[in-house]
Amino acid sequence: MEVFVKSGSPEKQRTACVVVGVFEPRRLSPAARDIDRATDGYLTKLLRRGDMEGRQGQFLMLHNIPNILPDRVLLVGLGKERDLDDHRYRDAVEKLVQHLDGTGSMEAVVYFPELHVKGREIGWKVRAATEAGTLGLYRFDQYKSKVERPRRPLRRLTFCVPRRSDLREGQAAVERGMAFANGVSQARDLANQPPNVATPMHMAEQASSLAEEWNLGLTVLDEAQMEAEGMGAFLAVGQGSVNPPRLIAMEYQGDEADTKPYVVVGKGISFDSGGISIKPASAMDEMKYDMCGAAGVFGILRAVAELELPINVVGVVAAAENLPDGKAYRPGDILTAMSGKTIEIINTDAEGRLVLADALHWVQRYEPETVIDMATLTGACIVALGKKAAGLMGNNDRLVRELTDAGDETGERAWQLPLWDEYQELLKSNFADMKNVGGREAGTITAGCFLSRFTEDYEWAHIDIAGVAWTSGDNKGATGHPVRMVSQYLAERAGG
Ligand code: BES
Ligand code: MN
Ligand code: ZN
Repeated sequence: MEVFVKSGSPEKQRTACVVVGVFEPRRLSPAARDIDRATDGYLTKLLRRGDMEGRQGQFLMLHNIPNILPDRVLLVGLGKERDLDDHRYRDAVEKLVQHLDGTGSMEAVVYFPELHVKGREIGWKVRAATEAGTLGLYRFDQYKSKVERPRRPLRRLTFCVPRRSDLREGQAAVERGMAFANGVSQARDLANQPPNVATPMHMAEQASSLAEEWNLGLTVLDEAQMEAEGMGAFLAVGQGSVNPPRLIAMEYQGDEADTKPYVVVGKGISFDSGGISIKPASAMDEMKYDMCGAAGVFGILRAVAELELPINVVGVVAAAENLPDGKAYRPGDILTAMSGKTIEIINTDAEGRLVLADALHWVQRYEPETVIDMATLTGACIVALGKKAAGLMGNNDRLVRELTDAGDETGERAWQLPLWDEYQELLKSNFADMKNVGGREAGTITAGCFLSRFTEDYEWAHIDIAGVAWTSGDNKGATGHPVRMVSQYLAERAGG
């Protein structure tokens, strides 16, 4: 999708389609009023006849209206004006592009940034529209033998801002929005790959392509090198699979070489069967998404590189496959992590924290500014927060607050859970420094507690994306969370 900003009157646009909002009940948005005025009340009459109530999700395409330049005018119902919030606004743009794609208009001039969205300025409205307009047409159809695409697909969106003086901010918002959307698509494309394709080695190859394309540094550790580093926890998880594990680091340099980098670490379990503590069969296919944290790292690096942020960022992926096998690790095993701490395995299905423990210890070598890990870590997080918010924990309040704010700004929201010392007791082991599970209670928090034992030397936050990383059912697919949240945090750190 190509996206532009401009300013100007809707009745004067020489375009295939002008898009204006209508609020419930039958109330015209400012741009719709302009068209109404230029056409001697064409829209008012139409509303009076009852053709359009303005309900959210309603569309009415009008052709060849006399006295105005656009070929078509699309009226979009937006619901009650005072209910137009972030979510509805994004949703309206997403539904708009899905509706427009295939109506014959290959381009549209959209008058949404003028709408009043509670607490949001023009930059937010243009960026959100750019993201939703681009991602609304995202598909993953690489493995379909026949793909049906409209003969005249939607190719170009122009968002109109109310004043010429808004153009500068609008243009910057389009650029930010495009970079975020490209990052999200990058993450979705990798996460949606089937697990027979997206193996740890495949992730390393993808990292190599991304590094090539965006001029990133690349470090990939194979099993022997991980062995040499003493990554006993990480290696144990991968040892039941013929697809060997990889530790991947992509290095983006936007600042002086000796400036401390921001480090993002992703859980990259290419398939999580549970291992010897095997999972039930139902929906097990969705455990191909257990590398969504890793996919997020790819997306974030791509967005950061595209925006050329003036900071250094390292993206680390802990990639392994968790399968049952004669060589697999088992409940009862005691592992020694790279940090030297020992871990008694109670359940081989709590594998994400094991690969992360070693990856998080390893990243100390970068002397990081902050470290953020993202992981589809616990089913308990879905019980606690459902599919509307990620779980957020950390050892630094400012970092947690900045991430929460970045989530609110981008709509990829997170909610903090406590990492109080009292929870640490649940990880006590009779035989080792800790167990790898804490029991049924507070499962997301005890997983966070486990990670906190490997992140003591820097400012760290953990994002549990188990509930938000993909959707199930008829619209099964990766969402790309938390690419926008973390990219927004990094953009803020880079100076806004
Ligand atoms: N990848 C899963 C968590 C998960 C499950 C994410 C379902 C999204 C949907 C993780 O490796 C796991 O299996 N966690 C266990 C931990 C338990 C054994 C302590 C869980 O949540 O059941
Ligand atoms: Mn698991
Ligand atoms: Zn897992």
